[in-house]
Amino acid sequence: MRIRGEPWRSIFVGDDGWTVDVIDQTRLPFSLEVCHLRTVDDAVRAIRDMIVRGAPLIGVTAAYGVALAMRESASDVGLDSALEQLQSTRPTAVNLRWALARMGEILHREPPSQRVERAYAEAGRVAEEDVAACADIGRHGATIIERLSAGVGGRPVNVLTHCNAGWLACVDWGTALAPIYAAHDSGIAVHVLVDETRPRNQGASLTAFELAAHGISHEVIVDNAGGYLMQQGRVDVCIVGSDRTTRTGDVANKIGTYLKALAAHDNGVPFYAALPSSTIDWGIADGLAEVPIEQRSAREVTHVRGRADDGQVIEVEVVNPGSEVSNPGFDVTPARLVTGIITERGVASATAHGLLSMYPERSGAAT
Ligand code: MRU
Repeated sequence: MRIRGEPWRSIFVGDDGWTVDVIDQTRLPFSLEVCHLRTVDDAVRAIRDMIVRGAPLIGVTAAYGVALAMRESASDVGLDSALEQLQSTRPTAVNLRWALARMGEILHREPPSQRVERAYAEAGRVAEEDVAACADIGRHGATIIERLSAGVGGRPVNVLTHCNAGWLACVDWGTALAPIYAAHDSGIAVHVLVDETRPRNQGASLTAFELAAHGISHEVIVDNAGGYLMQQGRVDVCIVGSDRTTRTGDVANKIGTYLKALAAHDNGVPFYAALPSSTIDWGIADGLAEVPIEQRSAREVTHVRGRADDGQVIEVEVVNPGSEVSNPGFDVTPARLVTGIITERGVASATAHGLLSMYPERSGAAT
């Protein structure tokens, strides 16, 4: 995607051929900075501190993290320790486990002398496959927006989205935002309602930044406004991303997604989740019981980061000092509230049957 006319990806290999460069998402939207990852510890820190975030990008960063680790020690011990370190960074996004399993399987078959080269090649493939999958999600999802556009009397289609599931959360295009980019680029008028997404405000800072950079009409709304706006007929469709989706179509995503799905259901607004197959956990069927939900720090709730009038980016306290807080990072939207799942192969119903007819090769996994 482009920022001020220049092509960007959220992660890329630097000019030296081995440093892994990522956009530092903790600095957006006020400054665009690149962070250089040179060791596996750098990759671990980037994921853990949310310099990079979003399920697909976490997976790609972990894959490159293994490549960086191989430069430091390509022995079996070095490989296993890198896989373990990276796996422990964040629990909910299944793309992390998926990418590490793929890297581990391939590299264990290689002699140590070949592992650096092989690891960079495979991480590059993981990244390119994500770009292709997101482009396909965009194509399939745009048909939904196009259909809705035919019924709204010439006004833009109003799409509500939560968190950031755009190209910053992936390598390029995004998941939930890919259909919006594809529809806009093909001349369909779209307007996006962007949930601010407390506590870290990925909607207000990242989704709004992306949409503005692409020239897409949007407005940021507080997280509590979505239900009211749906009652007012101001939302034609909700499209969200996912950090882990069960084989039965339960969708784990950023905290607050479930409330939007409930409001959408009550108001007859279609609710879609857009995700590549690397986000499907074929091993689980019950999202509520089986998806590990990350519990995040109290400070994300007690403090808010923003730019003061003098231009300084500062953190201020917003909660009564001493009050207890809790901060679950994700929730699970049951499949019954999900109209469909937009994948790289097409739009599936949120059921085991629907997902399996899209991915018949996984039928062995769904028992
Ligand atoms: O905690 P984050 O910012 O890494 O959360 C992930 C997300 O960005 C969202 O939940 C997103 O909708 C799914 S990832 C495309």
